[in-house]
Amino acid sequence: MGQERTELTDVSDRGSSPYFHGRENELNIFNTILNASIEEKKGTNLIIQGSPGSGKTALIHQCGGIASQKGWDVFKIKADALWDMKEFRESLKKENLLQFKDVTLKGEFKGIGASTTVYWRKKSILKIITSLKRPTLLMLDEAQHLGHQLAPPTKEAERVVTKVLDTIQNTSLKSPVVLLSAGLGTTMDIFQRFGISRTRVNALIELGPLDHPSERNIISDWLIKHAKAKGPINPWIDAITKETYGWAQHIISYVSPAVTQLQKHNGKVTDDGFKNMLHQGRKNKDNDYERRIIGLFSKELTLLSDLLCNTLESKSISYEDIIKTLEKGFDQEKSKELFQLILERGVLNEKRGYFNTPIPSMRKWLISHFSTKKNEIIESLYHGYNKTTEKN
Ligand SMILES: Nc1ncnc2c1ncn2[C@@H]1O[C@H](COP(=O)(O)OP(=O)(O)OP(=O)(O)O)[C@@H](O)[C@H]1O
Ligand SMILES: [Mg+2]
Repeated sequence: MGQERTELTDVSDRGSSPYFHGRENELNIFNTILNASIEEKKGTNLIIQGSPGSGKTALIHQCGGIASQKGWDVFKIKADALWDMKEFRESLKKENLLQFKDVTLKGEFKGIGASTTVYWRKKSILKIITSLKRPTLLMLDEAQHLGHQLAPPTKEAERVVTKVLDTIQNTSLKSPVVLLSAGLGTTMDIFQRFGISRTRVNALIELGPLDHPSERNIISDWLIKHAKAKGPINPWIDAITKETYGWAQHIISYVSPAVTQLQKHNGKVTDDGFKNMLHQGRKNKDNDYERRIIGLFSKELTLLSDLLCNTLESKSISYEDIIKTLEKGFDQEKSKELFQLILERGVLNEKRGYFNTPIPSMRKWLISHFSTKKNEIIESLYHGYNKTTEKN
């Protein structure tokens, strides 16, 4: 089971996209927050959380484009900028102002002014935030790092983060500051540790799969606009959507070899190209799953897969059942820790207090790779098949 990703040519499997589609609701929330922040002269914490490859980085890049078009200053920050004044000051330097030439924006976003000035002397992070002269968007990607060991490094640093988040959210500011944080499925829990609770956070976006039309638009842009496909390309798009369920990373897993195949034949749609695209796309998708389980124990995955095997595909599983299952192989504390990791890695997703794999194909992949019960299932399916065929 290799980790390497082959045939990824000029299609990048991470980050911003030249063919961005969908996420209208999320972008509307963001837009509303920008407008409200200006009106109320307040800061805002907006959190986007989602499993690996769900499209967080692409979405925050798009948000950056919207803010920039409205005349906001946009900066990327790292987690340590929330407690380390030097890092914060460095991040907000004029040369770090983000430009968004590659973002195509739909709709009207009104600007608020032209050139930029960021002032500071030897000020604390809080002073800088409260004295910014222009509306500012701070984009913190991979925000889950905030909760890792030594991030923040000391109790004092932890207090600074708490104060910074609280100031952004609750203080009247000269100019609004929006902190847009994106991270894996445990990001909200981490913010909670710094006093920003689920109910008090200004907005929490749980990023799921893309809707069907957006998924088709992304694929069709890559294949037609980018790879200049000539010929009947709809069967390719149909075949890809059947295996990707709207998950951004998976779409790119198939789009990338599709582009390669088309470019190899000057855009001509061929049967061989189709077969190769599907074969390589499936391999890439498997590698996506492999990446998700890095850091998890195979014993843990076996226990979890056996539990999935015993649960109907349509049924979600309770927290108690998952912990009970993990406790068959680990002590209680470790089981809770492993459960957090399962969520963080996007192996399971939460929906209204219950858990399931985010995509049906992930469930099948886990069972086929790790479950000790898979043979029983295959056998029962085989007997079931025999019985029905016998009856007929
Ligand atoms: N709405 C979208 N339209 C077009 N392409 C998208 C969209 N969302 C994501 N993608 C593409 O899907 C791939 C995965 O997206 P992205 O890197 O943003 O995911 P992520 O959630 O940040 O992943 P990770 O957890 O690994 O950081 C990228 O190639 C990205 O360009
Ligand atoms: Mg990302």
